[in-house]
Amino acid sequence: MGDPLTQADIDREIADIGAAVAKAVAAGEPEPERVTRDYPPYRSSLLRHPRHPLILTEEAEVELRGPVFGVTDVTDLDRDLTLHHTGEPLGERITVTGRILDRAGRPVRGQLVEVWQANAAGRYAHQRDQHPAPLDPNFTGTGRCLTDDEGRYSFVTIKPGAYPWKNHVNAWRPAHIHFSIFGTAFAQRLVTQMYFPNDPLFPYDPIYNSVTGEAARQRMIARYDHDLSSPEWSLGYRWDIVLDGPSATWMEEGR
Ligand SMILES: [Fe+2]
Repeated sequence: MGDPLTQADIDREIADIGAAVAKAVAAGEPEPERVTRDYPPYRSSLLRHPRHPLILTEEAEVELRGPVFGVTDVTDLDRDLTLHHTGEPLGERITVTGRILDRAGRPVRGQLVEVWQANAAGRYAHQRDQHPAPLDPNFTGTGRCLTDDEGRYSFVTIKPGAYPWKNHVNAWRPAHIHFSIFGTAFAQRLVTQMYFPNDPLFPYDPIYNSVTGEAARQRMIARYDHDLSSPEWSLGYRWDIVLDGPSATWMEEGR
């Protein structure tokens, strides 16, 4: 075993890859739109990212065996993560809303949108997360809703905290909310992450930076919307998700 990996080591690797991308763009190549699967600064992904083309399955076969949900399974309570326990969760109450759009800007209606996130202290209510930040007995951190006729989703939740992870010494993830969009069958599911504006941890995070195109990175960041904030109640963030095409939101690949 060598010396433990430091933030400076990771910073250098992120900068080198960023410089290579900038050089390629300057030479006329298009700015990268997709996540870079083989991204060495994100150490734990190195042994698990796909190295071969994905095997295409018969869609109909997967749909027969895959999980299904019914519109009636989703209630209005599911979209308010602050109401899932008897007490109020601690932290900064926020509304997150936006539209799911296809490449032509058309709304994607009736989509099951699921979210999961850490609590205000940066702790997940999950047994794998044992770092010494408090759990909140009034916050589980999962929610779901269906998009309306305008393709709009909306959640009320608590702004998640940053949390440490073991990629390298002093590795911290910027605050984020995980999003899943179900499609019409399990085989179509798309997963991504939403970030908050001006997070000081962006330059240090290899997951955020594994999306090597600047424009594509910016599309992962929600916009603070003062009109969406409620007096005496909550702050508002707006984030649209574009499923494909040139303005697509980055999605995790390799499922
Ligand atoms: Fe996370």
